[in-house]
Amino acid sequence: MSHAEDHEGTRRDFLYYATAGAGAVTAGAAVWPLIDQMNPSADVQALSSIRVDVSGISEGTQMTVKWLGKPVFIRRRTEAEIEAARDVDLSSLPDNNARNANLGDVDAADENRALGGNPEWLVMMGVCTHLGCVPLGNAGDFALDGGVGGWFCPCHGSHYDTSGRIRRGPAPTNLPVPTAQFVDETTVQLG
Ligand code: FES
Repeated sequence: MSHAEDHEGTRRDFLYYATAGAGAVTAGAAVWPLIDQMNPSADVQALSSIRVDVSGISEGTQMTVKWLGKPVFIRRRTEAEIEAARDVDLSSLPDNNARNANLGDVDAADENRALGGNPEWLVMMGVCTHLGCVPLGNAGDFALDGGVGGWFCPCHGSHYDTSGRIRRGPAPTNLPVPTAQFVDETTVQLG
């Protein structure tokens, strides 16, 4: 992928305020109980699980899909992003909880955030845990040289690292990892 295309992909990752009440959510941790308790009607329930073909996502790029009315980031990380994510003292993290719906209450080691333990793949809700904006990809203080990896929420300046963990700014918690799994080599199921 050329640099120009790469940039285009970044720009498509535009900023908007998440709808469906996310603006009223003050902490990311509150998002999941809310969704769990919504008890949606049958047609909505049909969408509570979706499958995403990730075969077109090359290393160092990501895709944003909409699920349950919210953006989900699916990123295929580079070796450097993985290394940076793993080379972090966990005690320095503002939120040392993996926030991974697939694992429960475990620490925020990158191994506990990557999808199914596969270090290349990171799947997270694309909703800033401060007040619900959609963070920009390949941006912020924890992006690697050349603007690779990391997320930045310009609404109030929250910086997330290459594992989607909050590192600087007002967001209280890491970007949550939703219930997700690979159902075959190139298909991720959300929900
Ligand atoms: S909504 Fe992201 S920093 Fe406030």
